[in-house]
Amino acid sequence: MDKMWAAFALMASMHAATKLVSGDFGKTREGTPVRIYTLTNKRGMVATITNYGGRVVSLKVPDKKGAMGDVVLGFDSIDGYLNENPYFGALIGRYANRIGHAQFTLDGVLYKVPKNDGDNSLHGGTRGFDKVIWTPHTRYDGSLELTYISKDGEEGYPGNCKVTVIYRLTDANELKIEYSASTDKDTVVNLTNHSYFNLKGGGDILGHLLTLAADTFTPVDSGLIPTGELKPVAGTPFDFRKATAIGARIEQNDEQLKLGKGYDHNWVVSRRPGTELSLAARVEEPKSGRVMEVWTTQPGIQFYTGNFLDGTIKGKGGKVYARRSALCLETQHFPDSPNKPKFPPVVLKPGREFKSATVYKFVR
Ligand code: GLA
Repeated sequence: MDKMWAAFALMASMHAATKLVSGDFGKTREGTPVRIYTLTNKRGMVATITNYGGRVVSLKVPDKKGAMGDVVLGFDSIDGYLNENPYFGALIGRYANRIGHAQFTLDGVLYKVPKNDGDNSLHGGTRGFDKVIWTPHTRYDGSLELTYISKDGEEGYPGNCKVTVIYRLTDANELKIEYSASTDKDTVVNLTNHSYFNLKGGGDILGHLLTLAADTFTPVDSGLIPTGELKPVAGTPFDFRKATAIGARIEQNDEQLKLGKGYDHNWVVSRRPGTELSLAARVEEPKSGRVMEVWTTQPGIQFYTGNFLDGTIKGKGGKVYARRSALCLETQHFPDSPNKPKFPPVVLKPGREFKSATVYKFVR
């Protein structure tokens, strides 16, 4: 039976639309070998992903003339990722985004998580899912499965939490990311991918046109922790219901823009009832003609304009990553949900499975 299954799997992989090839990506400082995976679809779109932090290393998509270009920030080798960098391409957890005062109460117990962003905890703490080695599994259908078991008490979070992420490249030029998680104790979970996009392949992103399917966003305090309010976007620089250049209002005299040093906020996705994936965002770069849509099952999306990039990091091909040279669209639960009872719940219980999916679709 096993042999039959193996033969079947081999045949299926030969016919899989997406080709998946694995290679060596060097070693961590502790000497653990790291792999890199190249997914190529029928139309020639290529995604490379490493199991160090589950990071998307490159994403090559066609422009309006069919010329391929890399649309994400990152590094040519593992060393760049091991050095200090703002989560380039990474999987984020156990709790993506911020937890106010780096603590929360669950079932009457106070949990303290690392303060790595002023008084707050950001992106899972000091050694979040972005800095761990994921166990890779190449699937017969050409997708890449990454698994990580986050131990009870790791970075302060309760419960042994098993997380699986599947990266899938489809022939419709979609990078689909499917997340699932389970636990043996009540815990909080918020998972996302932190890719930095520049559809032009260089320069700043201020001329990219953005549409966000959101009528409200969650305004923040000076530590970028939501106040708890859902604020209508109407009449504010946060209204992206119609395609608008990112740079058009970014320097306006607006309190929220000042607090974020630009856009660094969570929008509440207008979900269409009865549909699984909703279109949350669309980005169009007029020069290259590249268009990216973001579809998700998640209730929120963090739109971040690379305000903290400052030109000190040199990335792929020696490129300097300047302020606002990329944008992030992190699909997620709202920041600080463990302390905001009115936000959609983020508690995961034993016997239940957390599931979410996000698709980055390149329309050309
Ligand atoms: C997220 C946060 C930002 C910033 C980046 C990483 O997008 O919201 O404030 O911390 O990650 O630099």
